Amino acid sequence: MSKILIIYFSKTGNTEKMAQAVAEGVKGEGITVEVKKVKDAKVDELLDASGIIIGSPTYFGTMAAEIKSFLDESVKHFGKLKGKVGAGFSSSALIGGGNETTVLDILKALLIHGMIIEGSTDGGHYGPVAIGAPDERCSVECKKLGQRVAQLAKKLG
Ligand SMILES: Cc1cc2nc3c(=O)[nH]c(=O)nc-3n(C[C@H](O)[C@H](O)[C@H](O)COP(=O)(O)O)c2cc1C
Repeated sequence: MSKILIIYFSKTGNTEKMAQAVAEGVKGEGITVEVKKVKDAKVDELLDASGIIIGSPTYFGTMAAEIKSFLDESVKHFGKLKGKVGAGFSSSALIGGGNETTVLDILKALLIHGMIIEGSTDGGHYGPVAIGAPDERCSVECKKLGQRVAQLAKKLG
């Protein structure tokens, strides 16, 4: 049975709240979901997931070093993640503080792995973004992201 893996880093809890909302959306689709802090995740776990969703706070307009380091380590499985569904999300302090560039940097890494990414026609086009803790709008977007990734993973079998 397919599984969606959500991996995140969060120092002050904002990205963690987003990860939990994304997981809720996945659960509603009746698909197994695992939510892991990046420090507890192993790159080998990527192999078993049909969808991989990565969340990071925005640090200097990009992902936190902890997430970058995990992605760098994932090169061990380069070529083996092809065709899996990917997605990203981020929290920053400011509007225009770089949360979209952070999501795009996460998505770039997943695309380089050959993963499949579905954009959104409403809300955050690249993935959900929050200013600080996710508000109601962002929580809804996070749930919708979880649903979208789960639905696409099921469709792709
Ligand atoms: C080292 C560092 C760099 C940061 N860089 C940015 C930034 O470039 N733009 C921004 O808007 N916020 C920046 N922030 C603020 C965080 O993105 C923001 O507080 C976020 O909500 C933290 O998420 P967390 O609660 O999941 O740790 C930075 C914070 C730290 C600690």
